[in-house]
Amino acid sequence: MKKILISEWVPQECLAPYEGKYEFTCPTREKRAFSYDEVYEMIEAYDAYLILDNDGDKKMIDRAKNLRAIANFGVGYNNIDWKYATQVGLPVVNTPTTVTEATAEHAVALIISTMRGIARYDREIRKGIWNSPNFTDIDCEVYGRTLGIMGFGRIGKMVCKKAQGLGMQVVYYDKFRASEEIEKEYNVTYMEFDEVVKNSDCITLHMPYIPENHHIINAETFRAMKDSAYLVNAARGAVVDEKALAEALRNKTIKGAGLDVYEDEPNVSPELLALDNVTLTPHIASCTLKARMGMCREALAGITGVLEGGKPYNVVNPEVLK
Ligand code: DGY
Repeated sequence: MKKILISEWVPQECLAPYEGKYEFTCPTREKRAFSYDEVYEMIEAYDAYLILDNDGDKKMIDRAKNLRAIANFGVGYNNIDWKYATQVGLPVVNTPTTVTEATAEHAVALIISTMRGIARYDREIRKGIWNSPNFTDIDCEVYGRTLGIMGFGRIGKMVCKKAQGLGMQVVYYDKFRASEEIEKEYNVTYMEFDEVVKNSDCITLHMPYIPENHHIINAETFRAMKDSAYLVNAARGAVVDEKALAEALRNKTIKGAGLDVYEDEPNVSPELLALDNVTLTPHIASCTLKARMGMCREALAGITGVLEGGKPYNVVNPEVLK
């Protein structure tokens, strides 16, 4: 029987359809997760590895001599050395469809809560401060504002629909411009990167982390943004220069930010923690039970599809499959 290793506890319900066909190893609910070193010790004996919050780097791939599929529990898979995996013919699986709704919803929640100061008011009221400011522009309604979406994939498109439901105008940038039909369908305007930066009242990031996107949002970007604008990041931390962001927020170069992801998770720069014009959540955009169950099923379907000789849609390097 083929053996699948999972780095964190997952509900039995997700594994049940494979009973008798595959042998699974995952930590108990109490233990919650295997460390990188624990996985490293075990990996040689497995046919597939599903990664939740761990690394699939070159060292791990080299050790995993019998591995025929490696999967990440997420649409992003920058924690796997996928280039090396491709080089050695190892299929990499992700969960591109099941995170969309929850992640887009969280991005929109960050847009609203950041522009309306929800987290700041929550912090104040818990300290006994009843701050109900009249005639100030401390917060900003989202209705009628321009949202700039950077990255117009599944999540970016879903954010677009939701933001339009709130009365926002939407512009977008993507390295691969959408077709005319898609732009019409979404009633969305394409702009070059710099134009989105200059024209948006709020920029929301939905691009993958690849080396060319490293710090694509940086001090220069913040200087080019309106000083009344906000930044939301529910993509990957290192797309933004976190130090430059903290400085831009402190100096009021931009008005506020909402972040779900950070450059050095689970560490958040102390500079950000000290600021009041930033809303922070701990990389939980896709953390609803529905999304997580879906992600687990999508990843396992991809893995078993590969093990059974198929070509599942969620293999990100299909060129390695015959
Ligand atoms: C994703 O889908 O990449 C998320 O970041 C996983 O939590």
